[in-house]
Order: sequence, then structure tokens, then C-alpha cells
Amino acid sequence: MRKVIIDCDPGIDDALAITLAIKSQKLDILGLTICSGNVPAEIGAKNASRVLEICEDANIPVYIGEETPLVRKLITAQDTHGEDGLGEAYDMNYDSNRIKKGGVQFIIDTLKNNNDISIIALGPLTNIAMALRQNKEVFNNLNSFVSMGGAFRIHGNCSPVAEFNYWVDPDAANEVYQNLPTKIHMVGLDVTRKIVLTPNIIELMHRIDTKMAKFVEDITRFYIDFHWEYEKIIGCVINDPLAVAYFLDPSLCQTIESYVQVVTTGEAIGQSMVDSGNFYRKPSNAVIAVDVDSKRFMKTFLNTLFPHDEIEVEAYL
Ligand code: RIB
Ligand code: CA
Repeated sequence: MRKVIIDCDPGIDDALAITLAIKSQKLDILGLTICSGNVPAEIGAKNASRVLEICEDANIPVYIGEETPLVRKLITAQDTHGEDGLGEAYDMNYDSNRIKKGGVQFIIDTLKNNNDISIIALGPLTNIAMALRQNKEVFNNLNSFVSMGGAFRIHGNCSPVAEFNYWVDPDAANEVYQNLPTKIHMVGLDVTRKIVLTPNIIELMHRIDTKMAKFVEDITRFYIDFHWEYEKIIGCVINDPLAVAYFLDPSLCQTIESYVQVVTTGEAIGQSMVDSGNFYRKPSNAVIAVDVDSKRFMKTFLNTLFPHDEIEVEAYL
């Protein structure tokens, strides 16, 4: 069981990613640390606790981290994820006792006391950057780091070039890319845009496990409406689960290694500049996912959340 901290901003796709991580039964999730992004961190923490209730996983603590980006004013994605961050589906129960403050200190203390910790970051990198600022040395214990974020050869989702997580807090993203002692596995829009949860797949979910299917359908309906209205997509792109799946099985994605920096000012703010042409002659600090076996991902996702012996899910993909 690989030990991980999941830093996230739940968030509909974060919720699906956390569910995948738990149901995989391959991860020892030491804690969820919450940053502001899709929703303010306080709301995200409640949503994280709601997901843990639904997954019936009583042991994972939730820590609220930084409430605002390092420099920029917080701009949330509540137009996409709903005011409550979970598609305004319904008032799900959550265990407030599970929620603590001190997300950044939890990251530092966990890295200080273990040398086999990995971090899967599914939101803006504010907590990670703050932890690096406060105690860079403990990150020498970090095993691996996966970040859902950025865009290489594909357009952004917040500007022609910027992806949301790195656009919300470009200063944090750049500080992490410049200072993390281990290479960042960048799972960006180049690959996550190929991961689309369609009505057909949701219908299949209902045929297998109506309770879990109802959760998925309820929290994604708002998101699916957004995708039709703004991108004329039937279904919704679920970015974050791919970062978890890639952490579990890196063979899902084709990658290149390159130096990456994140633009912190001007029109291109938030752009992950992948120097694949080696103009800057700097050593690579990142492993960038450039393609994905989307069918194999969806098969893994479905078989993990909706285990079923008789149904070959790939027949429906
Ligand atoms: O750009 C997509 C990313 O931004 C996802 O992590 C989504 O949850 C939002 O945080
Ligand atoms: Ca997220």
C-alpha cells in the first residue's frame, strides 16, 4: 500500500478521484489536504468529508490548508462545480469532527516523519508551495509527486493557454516547479480532455450499482449541463481521476521529460511553458503526460468503482 497525501479542491472531479483512490484499495491515504480552487477551502473540506462518508471510509482525516492563492485574488469555479462544489446535488451528510485546520503543517510533518510518502495534487498548488517555503528540506523525503494541471500542446480552460489549477495560483505552481526536489508528473489537459464521462457510461453504472451510480449522476449533472452549454460536449470531462489512475499505473499515459515553468504575469498567466525544444538549456523538472489510453482508464475506473463479474465494461465504451 503506497502512502499518499491527496491535496485537492473538491470539486466534482476531485470527488470522483478520491473515490477511485479509496476503492482501488492500493493506497494508504494518510490525509486529504484542502486548498481553495473550485470552491473556497472550507467548503472543499466539507465536500471531502461528504465523499469519505459516501465511501464509508472512517479513517482518513481532512485538513484545511491555505484559503487564498499566494498572490492572486481567489477566483473559484463555482459556475462549473456549483456553489456547493458538488453540483448542488443535495445536502449530503458530512462528519465535521473529521475536519481539522493545519493542512500545510500536516504535509510538512508527514514528510518529516516518513520517507515513503507521495503526493497527488488535484487542485492549485498553494498548499505545496507554502509547505516548500516553510520547510523545503522535508521534501527530500518525497517519493513521487503527481499534479493534475497544466496544458502543453492543447488550449487551456481558463484562457487560450492556461489550465485552471495553475491559473488560479500561478505563483504557487511556478514555485513548486522550480523548487520541488523530485520531478513533477504533470497530468494536464492534453490527456484529461480525453477522459469523458458519458450518459451511456452513467447508464451502465446504474445497471451495476444504483447507490454509487446515484452519487456519480447526482454530482455530475450540473457539470454535464455546463459542458453542453459551453463546450457542446454530451457528458463531462473528469480530469482528476486520471491523475490518481496514472499514479497507480503510469503505463496509462505516454510521457516526455522536459523543463517546465509556469507564467506568473501578463496575458499568458498560468500557462505551463513546456520547454520541449530545450531553449533554456535547463535540466528537466517534469514528466509530462502527452497521450493516454482513455479506454483502459475508463475500464479501470468502472471496474474499481463498480466491480462486477459478468459485465465486460469495455463493450460499452
Ligand atoms: O482544470 C481542471 C482542474 O481544475 C481539475 O482539477 C478541476 O477539479 C479543477 O480543480
Ligand atoms: Ca481539482
